[in-house]
Amino acid sequence: MLSKVVDFFMLWLMFSSWVFSVSATVSYDSKAIVINGSRRILLSGSIHYPRSTPEMWPDLIAKAKDGGLDVIQTYVFWNGHEPSPGNYYFEDRYDLVRFIKLVQQAGLYVHLRIGPYICAEWNFGGFPVWLKYVPGIVFRTDNEPFKAAMQNFTEKIVGMMKAEMLFETQGGPIIMSQIENEFGPVEWEIGDPGKAYTKWAAQMAVGLDTGVPWIMCKQDDAPDPVINTCNAFYCENFTPNAKYKPKMWTENWTGWYTEFGGAVPTRPAEDIAFSVARFIQNGGSFVNYYMYHGGTNFGRTAGGPFIATSYDYDAPIDEYGLLREPKWGHLRDLHRAIKLCEPALVSVDPTVTSLGSNQEAHVFSSKSGACAAFLANYDTKYSVNVTFGSAQYELPRWSISILPDCKTAVFNTARLGAQSSEKQMVPVTAAFSWQSYNEERPSADDQNVTVHDGLWEQIFITRDASDYLWYMTDVNIDPSEGFLKSGQDPLLTIWSAGHALHVFINGQLLGTVYGGLENPKLTFSNNVKLSPGINKISLLSVAVGLPNVGMHFETWNAGVLGPVTLNGLDEGTRDISKQKWSYKIGLKGEALNLYTIAGSSSVEWAEGSQLAKKQPLTWYKTTFDAPGGDEPLGLDMSSMGKGQVWINGQSIGRHWPGYIARGGCDACDYAGTYTDKKCRINCGEPSQRWYHVPRSWLKPSGNFLVVFEEWGGDPNGITLAKRTTTSVCADIYEGQPTMKRRGMLISRRTNRLKAHLWCPPGQKILKINFASYGMPKGSCGNFREGSCHAHKSYNAFQKNCIGRQSCSVTVAPEVFGGDPCPGRTKKLSVEAACSPETLAKAKYWL
Ligand code: GAL
Repeated sequence: MLSKVVDFFMLWLMFSSWVFSVSATVSYDSKAIVINGSRRILLSGSIHYPRSTPEMWPDLIAKAKDGGLDVIQTYVFWNGHEPSPGNYYFEDRYDLVRFIKLVQQAGLYVHLRIGPYICAEWNFGGFPVWLKYVPGIVFRTDNEPFKAAMQNFTEKIVGMMKAEMLFETQGGPIIMSQIENEFGPVEWEIGDPGKAYTKWAAQMAVGLDTGVPWIMCKQDDAPDPVINTCNAFYCENFTPNAKYKPKMWTENWTGWYTEFGGAVPTRPAEDIAFSVARFIQNGGSFVNYYMYHGGTNFGRTAGGPFIATSYDYDAPIDEYGLLREPKWGHLRDLHRAIKLCEPALVSVDPTVTSLGSNQEAHVFSSKSGACAAFLANYDTKYSVNVTFGSAQYELPRWSISILPDCKTAVFNTARLGAQSSEKQMVPVTAAFSWQSYNEERPSADDQNVTVHDGLWEQIFITRDASDYLWYMTDVNIDPSEGFLKSGQDPLLTIWSAGHALHVFINGQLLGTVYGGLENPKLTFSNNVKLSPGINKISLLSVAVGLPNVGMHFETWNAGVLGPVTLNGLDEGTRDISKQKWSYKIGLKGEALNLYTIAGSSSVEWAEGSQLAKKQPLTWYKTTFDAPGGDEPLGLDMSSMGKGQVWINGQSIGRHWPGYIARGGCDACDYAGTYTDKKCRINCGEPSQRWYHVPRSWLKPSGNFLVVFEEWGGDPNGITLAKRTTTSVCADIYEGQPTMKRRGMLISRRTNRLKAHLWCPPGQKILKINFASYGMPKGSCGNFREGSCHAHKSYNAFQKNCIGRQSCSVTVAPEVFGGDPCPGRTKKLSVEAACSPETLAKAKYWL
């Protein structure tokens, strides 16, 4: 009997696995990715697991799902996973399997960009630095040592995913993978070896038999069956390299990265929505937002060089994990509208007709009766009324209206319907009580220095174990030197490949120079006081993240490559590059682990009146208790210059508020082609002032905070702040298309628009900061009255909202005391102040 049961069980197992393997499929055709037999319009967003904490992941993924995404896209971070050859790390922020399983639990798919070259503003583009020193290596070309290492890591990752049953065909969430990253432009430069490498990479990947499609982005010649995809701010004109491949957009940049010294880029939600609608109306079926949550370059993971610690990216979920409004909500509304169109979109190609000189209709009308239309106005200056079918539609400039039934506009890309909110960093702690320790400067004659004739390249020596490398040498000045009498100090000139340099002469800081993202190289040139006899020259060369993009990674270098010269001596110019130099990797404080409690006890710290202030190369430490509540936290470092910050032994990243944002920050108009030079903010201020402190890194009390400061700053200016919603806004046009929640359509004409305001749970509406029904200007946080304003604009809000967590007011002239400018299209802008948090609960709010 028992054997019969076992037989039956075995049979059932075989049958179910057969059913399973035939049902779980991912393929593609000319229209779309096909999952289990159905063509899908897929909306995807990049969330990079090491750029947040595992504790943040579930909430980020839930917010992505509520934002209407189907897929989470992530790179795989090779240098995080293989810190030394053959030693793998998949814990904590690098727990890739855990991250993918969380996405699966949320019911979303995964697009896994294995690379293993990833670019991503990540240190060395994701390559482990040890790879640079593999004999004979040439990166990203037809080079055996490189290909062997790349294949090894790719196999490792694919093997892990298979073992964990994570590919869709195994019942997992991964529906697609990526090999390489934007190799096309490199191939174009290097020619045949590049072509051979592309073929090899594609074959190698396909040979791994994942059961799901592979893509190569920015790779026009991606060999079959690999799909080539587009990365850009706009991709509507992209076509894949074969008729049987779908039109896919793997990176729609939602903003741009911040560099130290650069202004902070932002991209208007209206323009992102416009770009997506434009891509979909042209037959696109997969859109990924890069980034959906950018997060933080913790530790020394930022690349560049000069990439900031914040990788906020102006993404729909901000660096701290909070919804960025109205961007997140506007894209959620866009996604709902697109999903309503899905049956028509996947069935037919669009028919395009002109609606005017700069206007078009893209209509998807299927035999089965499904019909979706996109009405586009490309004009950057003028809104227009167009006739489509038997109705008239108002199309704001640079916008697309979406009509999921070819009749009713449920969404327009330029009309923000979502509530927006203003978030601020509100200080939470009493002043920190600091202690200081002056970093000991090594000397050329120290015991544990390495001595070498001539100058060494920095990364070769440090292997990137530290940002810092000391170069030290002695200069002998004969007492008979003429400058000693004339007082004409010699000129010291130092050429460095970057990225920053502090120059000390006989223990005194002579000066600091640094490059920038565009040109990391630097030259130091200064007159220098030298005494008769031995003079000590110590150069602290500082790397600020290794480059992440470009060709020939094996040739890149940093540090003082020379020449180093002294000009104005009796002999003329003395080249000191080739003489004896002593080298010391890293700071003494790093070697002593001063950023840990145990390590910090090995030195004497000063406090009170002895506390070092405005002194270069200083360590600071303090302890603090975690503030209550669960709002995200950040450190205001604006009183400091440059260095690194640790909390409880973990580095929250490099700080560099002393690097002020250059460039222009012009007024931002959503209309017109976006570039990363448009709509920038923070000019004349630090590129990055606040530094994210993950809540999960804190204990209730006794948290150990350590700052290493290179330039000199005042630690008493450092404060811990909570990221708090201070006000919420609604900004609504009369007659704007709207959708009821859960996707039901409302007629454009009969719908009574309502302004809804919600403060986060635990907060209440304290006050109406602004309300104007008419033609107000500006955006949440800086609304202004326009030429037309209803004088009773505030009344209804005062009455309905004050003291409540949420409220709504109908947007109609009679509510505001009559029509202030009849015959003109009006809007309502309102901003309400939220009280400070009273309950410390709520995960997030809609
Ligand atoms: C892309 C690249 C990404 C990222 C992006 C800029 O070209 O594929 O990894 O670097 O640029 O943020």
